[in-house]
Amino acid sequence: MSQTTTGILSDLERVLVDADTIQERVSALAHEVSRDFTGCTLSVVAIMDGGLFFVADLLREIDLPMRLHTLSASSYQGGKETSGDLKLTWPPDLDLAGQHVLLLDDILDTGITLSAIQARILEQNPASLRTGVLLSKKRRRIREVPAEYVGFEIEDEFVVGYGMDYQGRFRNLPCIGILRPTS
Ligand code: IMP
Ligand code: MG
Repeated sequence: MSQTTTGILSDLERVLVDADTIQERVSALAHEVSRDFTGCTLSVVAIMDGGLFFVADLLREIDLPMRLHTLSASSYQGGKETSGDLKLTWPPDLDLAGQHVLLLDDILDTGITLSAIQARILEQNPASLRTGVLLSKKRRRIREVPAEYVGFEIEDEFVVGYGMDYQGRFRNLPCIGILRPTS
């Protein structure tokens, strides 16, 4: 009845980034952000659900005053390829005018999601906008998207774990991995 971590890990073909390596890199990014925004109050815009663990770990290591806003974005209809049809749930009262904005997501893939969200944020005239992602798949890019903080550049492979899902599963893996073809 109970599924152990070992049980979930057994769906992986291989681990791409282990939990300790993720934590070390996320800490390093948090220090960069703290240094770059010294003296500012941050307005964090975090994209859910995939960014959940990255955002939680990163923000707890950023030594700055901040406000947190979450929004949901989805472009996958359960598969391993983006449908290109982006659905955004934008908080109705989100006002970023004059704010120092840190936009966070799990993966920068084709760039469709983050380019649309960056454009929408810039319409609100923030004082500054920087973007952080845990993973980037450079070779898949359709839209060029500036991202100042990138955890890891990875190849064009579908990954799960540490917040990222396949058909709603595998978000709770502590590492980032590649699924077995049958999972
Ligand atoms: P983009 O709009 O193509 O850049 O896609 C970005 C979103 O697609 C990310 O925020 C993820 O939610 C999702 N995504 C892209 N690649 C993967 C993957 O390998 N595993 C899980 N989700 C992914
Ligand atoms: Mg996402």
